[in-house]
Amino acid sequence: MKDILEAPFLIEMVRTAANMYSHGWDERNGGNISLRLDEADAAQHLDTSAAIRDIPTGFEAPELEGLCFLVTGAGKYFKNIPYDPARNLGIIRIVQGGNTARLLWGLSDGGSFTSELPAHLMSHAARLRADPRQRVVMHCHPSNLLAMTYVHDLDERAFTRTLWQMCTECVMVFPDGVNVLPWMLCGTNEIGRATADKMETARLVVWAQHGIYGAGADLDETFGLIETAEKAAEIYLKIAHLPLKATLSDSAIRQIAAHTGVTPREGWLE
Ligand code: 13P
Ligand code: ZN
Repeated sequence: MKDILEAPFLIEMVRTAANMYSHGWDERNGGNISLRLDEADAAQHLDTSAAIRDIPTGFEAPELEGLCFLVTGAGKYFKNIPYDPARNLGIIRIVQGGNTARLLWGLSDGGSFTSELPAHLMSHAARLRADPRQRVVMHCHPSNLLAMTYVHDLDERAFTRTLWQMCTECVMVFPDGVNVLPWMLCGTNEIGRATADKMETARLVVWAQHGIYGAGADLDETFGLIETAEKAAEIYLKIAHLPLKATLSDSAIRQIAAHTGVTPREGWLE
């Protein structure tokens, strides 16, 4: 069996977490990631029939029965993931209809999966229904997007339009726009269900006064999605208080979309 620390999926997870930390998106234990693993890939690096311990999840996710996920641990600092992946990350298999996460590797100090597992797994189920290639759910606390939720209308269309107007690339990267949840208590099944509902129609879901969720086919794509939205929020906060001399018009955004072959969310452009 190959060394798990040399598994491409593990290396990429560690690098992504380190990159998120260095972008300032994951202070202390802020943020969490889950990556759906390919069974054959995982089997090259670990005994996938192993059961180190079973951890109850407190919710059901029958569509995910039997699937394996590499996840960050609850209370683990992203800063520390590169120094000790086996302590800060875990590989779980979803069993008993989603009620149980069977630990196959990691969380070596006896820890548990991220407290946001409901939002992650329910979002995986929603994204898998939308697109079977989707593998990643990522949550973090990027400063500009978070700040924007204090000063911008939280209407999803208005929020998305502002982001699309901030950088030419935005509509190409997230043509489906950004969905927004009002502040809710985190770490609960309720916010998990609400996030997953929002994930049915967009790959980015802002949690007002908290952070953002992104979903994608791989870690790079999902990181890039959040990175692009965060950049747009940064531009917004730089210009929102200044007299405007120019805007990116709806017609310009339509041209970008047509030129790059993406379809902006129906009805979100004038
Ligand atoms: P965890 O440490 O449990 O992953 O929680 C961090 C977080 O961002 C909660 O929303
Ligand atoms: Zn959070």
